[in-house]
Amino acid sequence: MLTLTNVNSSYGVVPMLRDVSLEVNPGEVVSLLGPNGAGKSTTFKVICGLLAADSGEVRITDHDVARLGPERLSARGVGFVPEGRRLFPSLSVRENLKLGYDASGCKTPFDTRLAAMFELFPRIQERLSQPAGTMSGGEQAMVALARALIGAPELVIMDEPSLGLSPKLISEYFEIVKRVRAEGTTVLLIEQNAETALSISDRGYLLVRGQIVASGTSAELLADDTVRQLYL
Ligand SMILES: Nc1ncnc2c1ncn2[C@@H]1O[C@H](COP(=O)(O)OP(=O)(O)OP(=O)(O)O)[C@@H](O)[C@H]1O
Ligand SMILES: [Mg+2]
Repeated sequence: MLTLTNVNSSYGVVPMLRDVSLEVNPGEVVSLLGPNGAGKSTTFKVICGLLAADSGEVRITDHDVARLGPERLSARGVGFVPEGRRLFPSLSVRENLKLGYDASGCKTPFDTRLAAMFELFPRIQERLSQPAGTMSGGEQAMVALARALIGAPELVIMDEPSLGLSPKLISEYFEIVKRVRAEGTTVLLIEQNAETALSISDRGYLLVRGQIVASGTSAELLADDTVRQLYL
């Protein structure tokens, strides 16, 4: 579904990602963990084609990302939840969702997909005409996830979606991710919150200073010394 092979990437002359290789298979939830500044969002940007890799390859659903770019990736069944949500604050919730839907090229009618989002996020229904920027932080997190899901993507990539949420909202959020996965969507979850992320993941990778330093099943990573030193 998603494969990074020996990806190197830099900001100007400063190298950031070094030989990053990872794989997400269809139907899996995979976590990419790492401390602040490890290069998680840089990896996200390379995956969505916002930042070019110096070398190596990123393939999504068998397409070379370097040749596609973000708009066409959405149209190929990939949903993105960027760091900090990035909603359009002055547009209504409905308009934000419509933008996600339009980018996806989804063939199911918008109203049908909107109704599916109400199932996952009941509170969105009452808030459709509210400017997204006036929603609470937790509500905005849900809208950003709904915007990524409304086009019925095969793969969703999330960059620190739980940032700034209360423990209660984090568990609500991850319950929704579990449901999405149960419906067949593949998930790459970029997180600092290792224990919670691994609790809903099949496998994970640990990124430190631009390099993958550990990988394995969630149970293996939770028992890994490097992970324990960093997080537990
Ligand atoms: N546009 C840029 N130009 C120069 N350096 C950058 C740029 N963007 C990010 N960096 C640097 O690259 C490093 C990795 O940043 P990145 O955003 O990928 O980290 P992260 O793992 O997502 O961290 P966090 O958990 O804090 O979001 C940081 O040292 C950051 O300062
Ligand atoms: Mg980041």
